[in-house]
Amino acid sequence: MGTKERILVSGGAGFIGTHTVVQLLKDGFKVSVLDNLDNAVQEALDKVRELVGPQLSNNLDFHLGDIRNLDDLEKLFSQTKLDAVIHFAGLKAVGESVANPMRYFDNNLVGSINLYKVMAKYNCKKLVFSSSATVYGQPDRIPCVEDFELKAMNPYGRTKLFLEEIAQDLHKADQKWRIILLRYFNPIGAHESGMLGEDPRGIPNNLMPYITQVAVGRLPELNVYGHDYPTPDGSAIRDYIHVMDLADGHVVALEKLLQRNDIGCVAYNLGTGRGTSVLEMVAAFEKVSGKKLPIKLCPRRAGDATAVYASTDKAERELGWKAKYGIDEMCRDQWKWASQNPWGYQSKP
Ligand code: NAD
Ligand code: UFG
Repeated sequence: MGTKERILVSGGAGFIGTHTVVQLLKDGFKVSVLDNLDNAVQEALDKVRELVGPQLSNNLDFHLGDIRNLDDLEKLFSQTKLDAVIHFAGLKAVGESVANPMRYFDNNLVGSINLYKVMAKYNCKKLVFSSSATVYGQPDRIPCVEDFELKAMNPYGRTKLFLEEIAQDLHKADQKWRIILLRYFNPIGAHESGMLGEDPRGIPNNLMPYITQVAVGRLPELNVYGHDYPTPDGSAIRDYIHVMDLADGHVVALEKLLQRNDIGCVAYNLGTGRGTSVLEMVAAFEKVSGKKLPIKLCPRRAGDATAVYASTDKAERELGWKAKYGIDEMCRDQWKWASQNPWGYQSKP
């Protein structure tokens, strides 16, 4: 197989980035990763190289740099011809964004605007952007359909909402921009090899990394936030999606972007279309890991919605993409990664 275009993957050393880079390399793309390692480690990209082997690794280069720094972007774009960008770089912790909104506006908004300026300067106007189901706020109806009215519930969500609108405006002003906005639901799981996975710093905010750390003995028990929701078991429902399905979603979106000049600026949900409750997730994880997870039933977490899941029709119809994996496979691969790497990419501190 010959090599294809060169893709800039911003934030490519992170959780979703590394899994996507593997699929891009396997698909024949050349990949330049730009990451400031704010929430990632170099070892993750070493694992990517190990996974794809020495030949495909030649198609991957890493640039330590920050999208907030125009010089870092200039240096990269002036030295390398980039055909399209998959833009993951950014911060994603909702609670932190409430406590420190400027850090989020600076990283996510200023950083992205810098990136788009330099992309335009070098006439690289094809973009896949990491958006989030957070743009649906607390939806009145489910499943969430792409043309729902959007709202932001916190500064993190506001950055995603603004960045979607900024992308629409860029395209309106200059039709050479082709932009796909991917709204991820709840990405979990890990590469099926067990070599790549999510490695959050500090105490995890999200359900699956928390469950994992309880299972490997790093945390004593899981707090289940909310057991009085109007759902069958009283716990909240989300649409969890395997990170490899998500990675494949990026590859198909990118292929479409490269092949078609009538993309415009368009949003797609990436989810499974199925909802799973917190307690169902605990049970599924217990089954694959053989571990009993101690839980504590706690009050609801502020700002949480009762039930959120995706309509996947548009992605199926227009991208020809559909998630392959269910909860059992997500838990299986999460457990493989966690049991082989209980301290993530680092050794036990
Ligand atoms: P992650 O933190 O693992 O990856 C983000 C990467 O961006 C990290 O490697 C980090 O070091 C890098 N980065 C951050 N700020 C940067 C900057 N200023 N310059 C250069 N690099 C920078 O997170 P992830 O889960 O892989 O998420 C990737 C993207 O997907 C983010 O934009 C996130 O908001 C979005 N998203 C994630 C989820 C989720 O639940 N994981 C859900 C919806 C959307
Ligand atoms: N939960 C617990 N205990 C925990 C962690 C979470 O019970 O220790 C519950 C939450 O209350 C919620 C569910 O598990 O009901 C899922 O919570 P997550 O924090 O894993 O995910 P969210 O749906 O709240 O949010 C995630 C990302 C957001 C993103 C959103 C939609 O954190 O950034 O998905 O993509 F916007």
